[in-house]
Amino acid sequence: MPDLFDLTGRVAAVTGGSSGVGQAIATALGSAGASIVVVARRADALADTVEAIEKTGGKAAAVEADLATYAALDKVAQKISTPFGDPDIVINAAGINLRQPVDEITPQSWDQTIAINLAAPFFLARALVPAMRHKAWGRIINIASLQSERAFANSLPYGASKGGVAQVTRAMAEAWSRHGITCNAIAPGFFPTELTEPVFGDKAKAAEQAERTAIGRNGRLEDLYGTAIFLAAPASDYVTGQVIFVDGGFTAK
Ligand SMILES: NC(=O)c1ccc[n+]([C@@H]2O[C@H](COP(=O)([O-])OP(=O)(O)OC[C@H]3O[C@@H](n4cnc5c(N)ncnc54)[C@H](OP(=O)(O)O)[C@@H]3O)[C@@H](O)[C@H]2O)c1
Repeated sequence: MPDLFDLTGRVAAVTGGSSGVGQAIATALGSAGASIVVVARRADALADTVEAIEKTGGKAAAVEADLATYAALDKVAQKISTPFGDPDIVINAAGINLRQPVDEITPQSWDQTIAINLAAPFFLARALVPAMRHKAWGRIINIASLQSERAFANSLPYGASKGGVAQVTRAMAEAWSRHGITCNAIAPGFFPTELTEPVFGDKAKAAEQAERTAIGRNGRLEDLYGTAIFLAAPASDYVTGQVIFVDGGFTAK
């Protein structure tokens, strides 16, 4: 039997690879043998991810880009394809949550959230799909959220974007799966990152979220490794259009 979880020879582009969930997934795919291109704005943080992957014997490169300007993502796609060739795997993990109370949401903050969390994953993936179609093999993995299914306070545009990510994942699968490109999403529960600092910085709030899971604790970034490798690897050949919750059973309760 072929190694169902081997990514040797594959190239993976990971947006949000400078931090948190994206950095964790970049590390996981690098350890499974893929060459990694991390994409975000902060050069120093991207360099840290590249160095960490290289230290474990992997190959990695960084592309600095602001994904909010999603009309320019064709150019970003070209830069992503430069270090190791066209990506076979795209992880859309860049994201923001501005945590504004409903009355403080502005057209600008709404647009910014939708641009980064929802529009950029589609336009970047679409720019990279032609090369995957040519190879008749590809993987697109979006990052959804508990808020794809549930409403949390002070997060209305974020929730709208993440509900959209779940649906865009199904629509991408409808459009591209017949060309050998599977499209799925990982929906993490609560994981400690810069984005969730307002939760994890408050022990009571963090404990409250942990209590809402079936397992009884919040996520650790390494809890995402297995699902990310699975969805990127041949093991998931017949899985497409799915949102997989890695949430300790939060949504099961
Ligand atoms: N942490 C959780 O518990 C959790 C739960 C559910 C879903 N998620 C999702 O996981 C994804 C990653 O979040 P995280 O928790 O890892 O947060 P994080 O640590 O704050 O990481 C966010 C990433 O997005 C990048 N980013 C933000 N704005 C960008 C822009 N305009 N252009 C390019 N890159 C941009 C950041 O890089 P730069 O600042 O360097 O640009 C950073 O790498 C998000 O989609 C989030 O919604 C997280």
